[in-house]
Amino acid sequence: MSRVVVTGRVPDAALEKLRAEHEVDAWAGPESIGREELLRRVAGADAIVSLLTERVDGELLDAAGPQLKVVSNVAVGYDNINVPACTERGIVATNTPGVLTEATADIAFGLILMATRRLGEGERLIRAGQAWKWGMFFLLGSSLQGKTLGVVGMGGIGQATARRAKAFGMDIVYQSRSEIDPAIAAELGARRVDLDELLTVSDVISLHCPYGPATHHLIGAEQLSAMKSSTYLVNTARGPIVDEAALAAALREGVIAGAGLDVFEHEPKVHPELLDLENVTLVPHLGSATVETRTAMAVLAADNALAVLRGEQPPTPIG
Ligand code: DGY
Repeated sequence: MSRVVVTGRVPDAALEKLRAEHEVDAWAGPESIGREELLRRVAGADAIVSLLTERVDGELLDAAGPQLKVVSNVAVGYDNINVPACTERGIVATNTPGVLTEATADIAFGLILMATRRLGEGERLIRAGQAWKWGMFFLLGSSLQGKTLGVVGMGGIGQATARRAKAFGMDIVYQSRSEIDPAIAAELGARRVDLDELLTVSDVISLHCPYGPATHHLIGAEQLSAMKSSTYLVNTARGPIVDEAALAAALREGVIAGAGLDVFEHEPKVHPELLDLENVTLVPHLGSATVETRTAMAVLAADNALAVLRGEQPPTPIG
């Protein structure tokens, strides 16, 4: 029997799977586990099931000890994990791709609708008790039909967002490290372009690339200036892909029309200027937040850890 440390609260279905085979030490506090407590608890762990709020770096891996075999992240994004540090120590790192694709694309498209149709503004106005009545020019937004969606990062979530956009009558361009499957490109009518072209032709830009040194501030003042003043930017990937101060300035000065953000550069902090702007919709990292999706993520993370502890290939290793 091995020792598995789970760094935060996860659905019971995952804990039951882990407990059926191993001794499980799962943090159950309402707040995230503190760093000191985490460093203490991982000592002697054979597996760590980590949440994206915990930094898994060399210090943590060393605190666990040389018996540690696997770090299983309950997220598709793994910017909280120092993967080379795992590899150097012979530790397998895994994530949870696939199971949160549709839920995250739903939130991306929800933000596209909220931003372009000014739903947040309308809701705030009613809740503030402001007087209003139907008017020909009251809270007019932008239609999506016939407009162009630019998808940055055309993996599973980008493709699922593009599929929703197609159903809304949008044209699709995308920027990605590689061409997507030609059959899917044909189904979506999606054309691969470089980032510069995407920025200038898109009416809505949705970010779905992974975060890392190559994508830090991928969207900054220069890129925002390259967009049309009628463009909307949506980010459901990772906050630091966007220079939040530059975005706040662009939204305030009308450089772009609006934005929808599910993720933030210094999460959970939000740039204070964004809070005062009407043309940005802000939601608290809800991309994968459905009961079904979170359960599937946690169960997949458990399966990954269990496979490595059995000496088997995990279902979804990183890299
Ligand atoms: C992920 O899995 O990376 C998501 O951000 C979690 O919601």
